[in-house]
Amino acid sequence: MVQVNGNYLKLKAGYLFPEIARRVKAFAAAHPDAPLIRLGIGDVTEPLPAACREAMKAAIDAMGTAEGFYGYGPEQGYLWLREAIARHDFQARGCAIDAEEIFISDGSKCDSSNILDILGPDNRIAVTDPVYPVYVDSNVMAGRTGEADASGRYGGLTYLPITADNGFIAPLPEQPVDLIYLCFPNNPTGAVATRAQLQQWVDHARATGALILFDAAYEAFIQDPELPHSIYEIEGARDCAIEFRSFSKNAGFTGTRCALTVVPRGLMGTTAAGEAVELWGLWNRRQSTKFNGVSYIVQRGAEAVYSAAGQAEVKALVAFYMENAAIIRRELAAAGLQVYGGEQAPYVWLKTPAGLDSWAFFDRLLEEANVVGTPGSGFGAAGEGYFRLSAFNSRANVEEAMARIARASLVPASAGVA
Ligand code: MLT
Repeated sequence: MVQVNGNYLKLKAGYLFPEIARRVKAFAAAHPDAPLIRLGIGDVTEPLPAACREAMKAAIDAMGTAEGFYGYGPEQGYLWLREAIARHDFQARGCAIDAEEIFISDGSKCDSSNILDILGPDNRIAVTDPVYPVYVDSNVMAGRTGEADASGRYGGLTYLPITADNGFIAPLPEQPVDLIYLCFPNNPTGAVATRAQLQQWVDHARATGALILFDAAYEAFIQDPELPHSIYEIEGARDCAIEFRSFSKNAGFTGTRCALTVVPRGLMGTTAAGEAVELWGLWNRRQSTKFNGVSYIVQRGAEAVYSAAGQAEVKALVAFYMENAAIIRRELAAAGLQVYGGEQAPYVWLKTPAGLDSWAFFDRLLEEANVVGTPGSGFGAAGEGYFRLSAFNSRANVEEAMARIARASLVPASAGVA
């Protein structure tokens, strides 16, 4: 009989969001009239920008003609999209990133997992705790961890706790690591790193020969002009970092699928024998073999994000969700909850009221307010006692959810906004 990948059996329960969906489905089945509001998974709700839709429609029409038809595209993505990204997202911010260093893909979730294909099995890995679960689970699946302990932490991983005490910015690892996952603006805590904080990470990575995997999927939500959007705004980052970006959250492409990964030329790793190898070539080889690119139609839609109309629409979308985040912060604080994040990110991270663990708070919120959120413990052991609410929903739903939370009196009158 065929053997399975036993590493999958090390995984704790289901992936967080399907597990939430399972519990919500059971609740909805038992309470078919409950008017649920979902502030759990960070999935966008507003329509696709008109500029993107028009570009995709034009691309579909072109595909219906012999001259405008495209079959397989370049596995790395079309050059016109890669050039637009290089110009607008990187060069305009002073980052020396070239189009050929940008690889178009169908998602940052996929890329942040797939990148393990080109990295050796013995790398020592550091993740924050709490963390976007994909970073951990993809390493478990690839056999790069031991078993999980009772708290859900896997052997072989270095966990860097991020809590209110350190402002949700991870301390540098005390033991040597080779691979470091960083996500700013952070999912789930909504924290964001300053230039100086990122410089510390880059300096550390360069000094130790580590590689930073930098997830910037939420960079568009940064409001403070002083804060860096890309790791490549930091001196030396080209020598030690790969960056993931996405059109999912800024332009509403969660269902449409388009993202990108930046692998700078000259960024090196080593073979087991110590010989230097350029990571760009390996990623290019990996993508050419295992990926056939994002559809022409979707890439034309993504390109339209960089048109004047597209930029204005994306800005308005981000402003809309950030206003939701501001409402969530304000109302939760008024309800007596301690809240974090939500100022440079579409996630509000809150301390669960005294005595309730994350899943107990999830259940109470669901039962008493019919609001779905995400338990902090689902992001890691240090997320216990915290809870995440997403700002991705309609204004009416956000306001209604906050009104219900206020009515449910879930919290003792003790805390406030951090
Ligand atoms: C989340 O809710 O954390 C996001 O949906 C993650 C993702 O984009 O995969």
